[in-house]
Amino acid sequence: MGKYVIAGNWKMNKTPSEAKALIEEIKPLVKDATCDVIVGVPFVDLQVALEATAGTNIGVAAQNCHWAKSGAFTAEISAEMLKEMGVGYVIIGHSERRQYFGETDVTVNQRVRAALDAGLTVILCVGEYLEQREQGITAEVCAMQTKIALQGVSADEMSRIIIAYEPVWAIGTGRTATAEQANEVCADIRKVIAALYNDAVAAATTIQYGGSMNAGNAAELLAQSDVDGGLIGGASLKAPDFATIVAAAK
Ligand code: PGA
Repeated sequence: MGKYVIAGNWKMNKTPSEAKALIEEIKPLVKDATCDVIVGVPFVDLQVALEATAGTNIGVAAQNCHWAKSGAFTAEISAEMLKEMGVGYVIIGHSERRQYFGETDVTVNQRVRAALDAGLTVILCVGEYLEQREQGITAEVCAMQTKIALQGVSADEMSRIIIAYEPVWAIGTGRTATAEQANEVCADIRKVIAALYNDAVAAATTIQYGGSMNAGNAAELLAQSDVDGGLIGGASLKAPDFATIVAAAK
């Protein structure tokens, strides 16, 4: 994995046939990318996404996984199941999971552990609510989420952790963090990693920004010293916009 990673988070969008069509549209537009490119698709789209991306430079991510290997957890999907399919990545701890589906820092940690054990690479999402930013506790919130999520993760395993800083107030709102705000928090998270591990691990870790990143603002955000990529929601559903963001990640 390279340092710069642009990942699309499709959320609950695109049926399998629509997913195939979108990937076919994205493929030629990103084939010369100098960063890593990932599409994060709904579970039912994983198979077509894997088939459509086979032999290309596009990786496939699931949007969640359970912490147990198997068992009585109706409707859940394990990391092992994803791994066997050929999925390489899994998004864990997205704020929509935390906000609407009872995800906690502790279950995020359990899912991270399960994903690493299965051999997946994790895109770990952290980020503050607007009230927390206004209270001046953004750094503390992100540090806490990061530390708890990474409990029991070794320095070696950090090569399979991507962190996505996603301020909740910027997700799907059209209200992007300024490049300075994004860079400041990404740098704070990098300091947390340096304290947990060491400077080399911190420097090598990919820290993305996410939250209303689009074709128009990506270049400025991605030019920041501590922003190593993006996790893109809405704009990842439009192939030309996603490709523009990929091209901006140099
Ligand atoms: P957005 O979503 O780009 O639509 O704001 C980002 C995300 O939730 O990962």
